[in-house]
Amino acid sequence: MKSVLRTTAVAAVIAAFVGTTAVVAAPTVSAVPEKVGNFQLTDHTRLAHELFYFKYAPAIVLMSQTNGSKLSRDAASELSKLQAAYKDKGVLFYMINSNLSDSRDAAAAEAKKQGFTIPVLMDELQLVGEQLNISREGEIFVLDPKAGFKVAYHGPLDDRFAKGTPNAKAKIADAYTAKAIDAVLGGSQVGNPRVDVKIGKAVSFPERGKTAQHANISYSKEVAPILQNKCVTCHQKGGIAPFAMDSYEVVKGFAPMMLESVMSERMPPYFADPHIGNFKNNHALSAEQNKTLIHWLEAGAPRGSGEDILKTQASEAPEWPTELGKPDVIVKLPSFDVPSSGTVEYQSMRVDNPFKEDTWLKAIAIKPGDRTVLHHVTSNHSPDRSKPAPKIPGGSVGSYTPGAEPQIIADNTGAPVPAGGRLNYSMHYTTTGKAAHDATEIGYYTLKSPPEYIKRSTVISDFSLKIPAGEARHQEIAYLEFPADAYLYTLYPHAHYRGWHVELKQKTPDGKEKMLISLPKYDFNWQRDYDPVEPILVKAGTKLIAKWVYDNSTHNPANPDAKINVTWGEQSWEEMMYFRVNYRWADETRTNLRNDLQTKLMESRTIGALDDNADDLVQVTELTGAMAGMKARFADLDVNKDGGLDAKELAAGNISRATARQLRDTDIDL
Ligand code: HEC
Repeated sequence: MKSVLRTTAVAAVIAAFVGTTAVVAAPTVSAVPEKVGNFQLTDHTRLAHELFYFKYAPAIVLMSQTNGSKLSRDAASELSKLQAAYKDKGVLFYMINSNLSDSRDAAAAEAKKQGFTIPVLMDELQLVGEQLNISREGEIFVLDPKAGFKVAYHGPLDDRFAKGTPNAKAKIADAYTAKAIDAVLGGSQVGNPRVDVKIGKAVSFPERGKTAQHANISYSKEVAPILQNKCVTCHQKGGIAPFAMDSYEVVKGFAPMMLESVMSERMPPYFADPHIGNFKNNHALSAEQNKTLIHWLEAGAPRGSGEDILKTQASEAPEWPTELGKPDVIVKLPSFDVPSSGTVEYQSMRVDNPFKEDTWLKAIAIKPGDRTVLHHVTSNHSPDRSKPAPKIPGGSVGSYTPGAEPQIIADNTGAPVPAGGRLNYSMHYTTTGKAAHDATEIGYYTLKSPPEYIKRSTVISDFSLKIPAGEARHQEIAYLEFPADAYLYTLYPHAHYRGWHVELKQKTPDGKEKMLISLPKYDFNWQRDYDPVEPILVKAGTKLIAKWVYDNSTHNPANPDAKINVTWGEQSWEEMMYFRVNYRWADETRTNLRNDLQTKLMESRTIGALDDNADDLVQVTELTGAMAGMKARFADLDVNKDGGLDAKELAAGNISRATARQLRDTDIDL
């Protein structure tokens, strides 16, 4: 982004120099930056792409595009030819749409209609287009990752797109882009690195002319309140972030890093696609906040005048979450010494249930003893077998994963904890090279009177997953079919280091589909519940279909080992395909328990895990990973010889029993 600063700063100087009344002539040679800073954008298929992830690519070609225009379409189809020609060399091709009137859905429709083979990056805030100084459709940028993402070439695709009416059928006289790619691949200078782009529809950038105003964005009135609101909960004294934003000076010092972390969508850590669903505790910057912050950072983070509220209102992180206060009951788990290296087996910690009467929880907060080593906690209640069976069902009594927030249960609903028995916690520790000591505490907030409804939870998972060694975008699908109406309270996706993208959609019995949540880029370090602002009604017969995409390539910096075929497992170097949902049955109340529905829901689980293409049949090719052993029995089990096992055939074949162990493994309520 530094390079943009240069361009915009120059423009600001010019603007200041000529005064406000003078008209600045548009430069004849486009002022594209020398280098491109990191950014992340989501494409028309909802997948995120981070520029610096592709540092391994020998060259990256980016073309500005708009929907419905002949030039964009012709250029896109010519670009596809280049893509095919340079496939073996590993050159990557992207289009970028910064056009404010092209929505993502419209771009997806255009891509489908035109049969695009190249992802369209949606630059909805125009921040990347501003950085690149795009002015028209059809502009090509050839980037050289090895030279710090230098813009090795900027100009039209080739001479046919340079002037007049482009004629894609004409013979190419000067293949600017191909020549530039060849030069970058060969490590030589591009002969003609900047060619003026004279034709193509102009893309309007309303903020572009406002560089001078950006330098006047008020830190005091505009920027500090954004940081206070969206960053300080973690970036405060005693908070989980590595530095406290408690004065302008700190912010100024971190300004270049802030620019990078916001542009690459690492910060603030909130990863749900803003177009899909509406969730509580949304830390994301709004579009306006994002633009204000970036424009202010690009303008050099000026102090301006006015109060510094980050300093005058500096706070310290509370011991327990502010919105909940001190817990009614605190369980102090036994402490554990984590060695400096090696694998630590899951630690079981059992405590006597502090609740002597049937209790309903309204919230649970976990205070890790040492966040650097505590990887996750799962839990459940086990009844005292010498006593009559509990009157209320027992379930999870709290869970923790990195980045988790307190679990708050919806109004009128409680998480049941039967009286007596024990609370069991399974603790997973990772080693860091430094010995550590963990003493985790669990805070329970109880309901003073019993609720009307019961919080239930279930997991959509695929224990037959198999991720081939080295594969960068491997997809797995699993589903569950809801036998009765239910309200979804919480969506919680979970995978390990290779998890890269996840989404959950519903498919109603009439075949209609609706996306409920999508994380364009999943981040293992930030796992949290996504609670819809309004519970989502799921009608009887609806399938909830989860899709996970995994990155088992060497390019995934978190990948523990790209050389192995990965299957299901609890340790971090193994993988999970896991999506928990919390809900309540629409017609279940505390006095009318519907355990029967819970059983019915589980019946769809085996087929939902195995049926990767969601066609209600399990084909032999879908018996992978932990289920590969069933292949030998396939022909016998397929009684009606239609080439697939339906739910009945699966049940008759006792596949469910064969998978019982895996199902138990997947049952942990993370
Ligand atoms: C939910 C807690 C949380 C919030 C909210 C949050 N941060 Fe962070 N931030 C962290 C943590 C933890 C780290 C340490 C690195 C990591 O774990 O990703 C971090 C690291 C950073 C860094 C260091 C560089 C980097 O990318 O790792 C910057 C800069 C930063 N945050 C800026 C911001 C800004 C700006 C906001 C608000 C717009 C923000 N953060 C909001 C928790 C948070």
